[in-house]
Amino acid sequence: EKGGYEHFMIKEIHEQPKAIRDTLTRRIVADSDDIVLDDIKLTAEDLKNIDKIYIVACGTAYHAGLVGKYVIEKLARIPVEVDIASEFRYRDPIINERTLMMVISQSGETADTLAALREAKNRGARVIAITNVVGSSVAREADDILYTWAGPEIAVASTKAYVTQLIAIYIVALYLARLNGKMSVEEYRVIRDELLNLPEKAEEVLKRKEEIQKFAAKNYNHKDIFYLGRGLDFAVALEGALKIKEISYIHAEAYAAGELKHGPIALIDKGVPVIALATQEDLYDKMVSNIKEVVTRGAKVLGIAFDGHEDILKVVDQAVYIPKTLPLLAPVLSVIPLQLLSYYAAVERGCDVDKPRNLAKSVTVE
Ligand code: F6R
Repeated sequence: EKGGYEHFMIKEIHEQPKAIRDTLTRRIVADSDDIVLDDIKLTAEDLKNIDKIYIVACGTAYHAGLVGKYVIEKLARIPVEVDIASEFRYRDPIINERTLMMVISQSGETADTLAALREAKNRGARVIAITNVVGSSVAREADDILYTWAGPEIAVASTKAYVTQLIAIYIVALYLARLNGKMSVEEYRVIRDELLNLPEKAEEVLKRKEEIQKFAAKNYNHKDIFYLGRGLDFAVALEGALKIKEISYIHAEAYAAGELKHGPIALIDKGVPVIALATQEDLYDKMVSNIKEVVTRGAKVLGIAFDGHEDILKVVDQAVYIPKTLPLLAPVLSVIPLQLLSYYAAVERGCDVDKPRNLAKSVTVE
């Protein structure tokens, strides 16, 4: 059942190219300018009345939501707020019939996410669900649905579901941007073509796993690990830190790199491993400055950058490269080395990879 792999987690990490392809299929099509969404009925007319989007989710799905804020604001120019479901539901959020709510849930059964969805509906919001389970509670109660096609995810740590959530977010963002006229057909085609190249590029990232394995073998014994990034890289850093916490039981913190000097840099000491994501071209130089700040304090830095950015080796100890794509789409590729790192570190540490302590696959209690 593990298809020759030692654990479900590593099997599911390898299923990502297929999961990405399956989630795109029929919706985003080469040579076509139409986005086909069978279960989303939202019209241009409906969208005219929307002045705000709320994305609500838990855990890894929340981290996908953080990417969603960035992507939807950038492409569709609609303000987006992202919230953790267990916070959202208890804080009297400003939400009404002019709000579009997006909930993201792999299982579609997470209690807090479901409660947030119900709260939003009670207040008149329209709800779009991104979920992996057909007929789940979230799917049944939402107005519009976009299914991810990750297939069953068995390992407790979410990997392939996360990347398909990202793909679903890009699809919704493109759909909204086309619907409200914020994106030309030419702009659409550029992103469409790059999206369709992602399965192959994800395959390429997986081929480079030995680099990560090497880094894991050298660093699995550290007590703390830091993840830094700016913009979309920060959202991915948060997901990377969560993965290593839950699977490898290594304390990890993710920071927006520019925020370091406002406190956390005090924790950087000789030999502390730092994962620095540097895929956002317009922030690259800023990121390099932040890397220098931690290197000066003795950190051992693993950089993650696009092919062609070998200049990063001037500031980092080791680099892992991902194939070049649009910076907007980089999270789909840059998260893979981070998933692999948490996996290999967990294996080195003898952890129960597929069933980490204290965690359940579906959190149906509050
Ligand atoms: C982390 C993880 C959890 C889930 C969270 C939400 O690897 O799996 O953080 O992402 O419990 O679950 P769903 O997406 O089913 O609502």
